[in-house]
Amino acid sequence: MKVSMSKFSLNSFSLEGKVAIVTGANQGLGMAYALAFAKAGADLYVPHFTDDIEDIRSLIEQEGRRVEFIKGDLTDRDYVQKVVEGCIECYGKIDILVNNAGASFFADFLDYPDSAWQKIIDINLNSVYYLSHEVAKKMVERKSGKIINIGSALSFTADKRCPPYAAAKHAILGLTKAFANELGEYNIQTNAICPGFLATDVNKELRADKAFYDKITNRIPAGRWGELFDIMGAAVFLASSASNYINGTFINIDGGFTTTL
Ligand SMILES: NC(=O)c1ccc[n+]([C@@H]2O[C@H](COP(=O)([O-])OP(=O)(O)OC[C@H]3O[C@@H](n4cnc5c(N)ncnc54)[C@H](O)[C@@H]3O)[C@@H](O)[C@H]2O)c1
Repeated sequence: MKVSMSKFSLNSFSLEGKVAIVTGANQGLGMAYALAFAKAGADLYVPHFTDDIEDIRSLIEQEGRRVEFIKGDLTDRDYVQKVVEGCIECYGKIDILVNNAGASFFADFLDYPDSAWQKIIDINLNSVYYLSHEVAKKMVERKSGKIINIGSALSFTADKRCPPYAAAKHAILGLTKAFANELGEYNIQTNAICPGFLATDVNKELRADKAFYDKITNRIPAGRWGELFDIMGAAVFLASSASNYINGTFINIDGGFTTTL
């Protein structure tokens, strides 16, 4: 027993020498995961959809870490393959994958366009499957890896006007369990982070709607929306060897939101 305990040290939270892909890390929550990893010692590979990459570049470089970028649409199967090949070309390996990129489209349910259903399922669910599947092949070769999928409070609940988002985020938890089952024997752990309501640029308009803002805030036992800082510790933990016996589960980062009526 004593021998087992002596294996633990705070170094097990370090990501020194690790290489992490964080999709969509050029903005929002993805930027926070990437910066947390850099602070813990990892180098980054960032697939991005829009051109705003200078902020994340300077944040990572200020930490003395390397960051490389590849632009494209993750719903494009060829690009997914290029992301994996590009990371291997730059760094020779992939230790950590965070499937962060996501999107929503709001419209009244009875008029909800089939094209939007397809698009939102493609980015929030299908691209997660395809990229993880390709990355897993590389991780299996090295018998080591961490896959972190991003769920949501809408992995457990649903709201109006964006049915595919709730469907995809529920499915993310199923996919996380499936990957855990398939890949656990290769020392690859797959878990999910489910952020609640975090104040980002994306939900600026929603927060300006006082009725909505109050409805959500009143349901959060912490009494406030989350900040980017709030998601960083759990991400490092799930990416590090400190969580090696945790596989196929999720961490809610929501100030208690999902525990309330
Ligand atoms: N902000 C929140 O409160 C919150 C809560 C729960 C879950 N989430 C989830 O966290 C993740 C990040 O959310 P965010 O708030 O930072 O949003 P965001 O819009 O700021 O970031 C999403 C990222 O995904 C990228 N992206 C969108 N479509 C893409 C495509 N087709 N191909 C490649 N990249 C694409 C965007 O360019 C962007 O970089 C998403 O999965 C989201 O569902 C966010």
